[in-house]
Amino acid sequence: MQELLERAAPLLRLPGPLGSPDQMPEVVEGGLRCPDSGRVLPVRDGVLDLLDPGFAPTVSQKALDFRLTAWLYDWLRPHLAPLFRMPSFASEVENAVEHLGLERGDSVLDVACGQGNFTLAFAERVGPDGLVVGLDIAHAMLARAARHVRETGVRNVLLVRGDALALPIATGAFPRVACSGGLHQIPDLPRALAEFRRVSRPGGRLVASGFASLPGSTGATRRLMRRAADLHAVDLGWLRGELETAGYEDVAFEMPAGAVGYIWGRIA
Ligand SMILES: C[S@@+](CC[C@H](N)C(=O)[O-])C[C@H]1O[C@@H](n2cnc3c(N)ncnc32)[C@H](O)[C@@H]1O
Repeated sequence: MQELLERAAPLLRLPGPLGSPDQMPEVVEGGLRCPDSGRVLPVRDGVLDLLDPGFAPTVSQKALDFRLTAWLYDWLRPHLAPLFRMPSFASEVENAVEHLGLERGDSVLDVACGQGNFTLAFAERVGPDGLVVGLDIAHAMLARAARHVRETGVRNVLLVRGDALALPIATGAFPRVACSGGLHQIPDLPRALAEFRRVSRPGGRLVASGFASLPGSTGATRRLMRRAADLHAVDLGWLRGELETAGYEDVAFEMPAGAVGYIWGRIA
């Protein structure tokens, strides 16, 4: 863990109330220390908690933060994917790897990493010289991810509790940013996109996915999902426009079938 923290510290920042957002945190035994306040943020059970203590989750965010729901999601995802006519997980990974242009030695920020399924797949692709930071707000989902990290024995994954709307990440830190399966849970997407953009290196690539709709659809399903489950299915045409406005180029999307859409682009 210590070596991992040393490698990750230059990429991390302690948001507002936890420390100083502009300075690199110091690495101490088992955690990070804010150079200003001296406050130590320890890694507990494989997770570094950098979430603002004042964070207020939405209903759907709360729903996945119980041991039972996190376990169910982890266990059910592969079984539910065909019902939503999603591609197999293996081909989701292949597409993400291709659109991220992932290479050995790369560093990846995996936002909304949940139980760590994409995180571990990226970690395998980037190899021991690469680094993957898996970030999520939910303790229970991160606990699943930490368990999988322990089981697989990978040493290039750091799990961080943090918010996509206020990433505890240095500006320009990552050449690859992923947000797979998480878009529909983030209510203020323009703010999250601004954060993805901020933490990306020039030339950096983004891939993201979640429940979505194609441009021109009536939006009835979106409204229903929002009302019934607080899930914000994303209009992919709108999202492409937002990404282009934020400075992404070569933005493209696909919705192979069913309810889940995939989008990717590159910072100029
Ligand atoms: C449907 S799960 C996706 C997990 C995994 N990436 C997958 O594809 O199976 C969505 C995840 O987004 C996380 N999430 C929701 N809002 C978030 C936010 N503002 N910042 C970070 N993670 C968030 C949830 O806690 C949840 O683990």
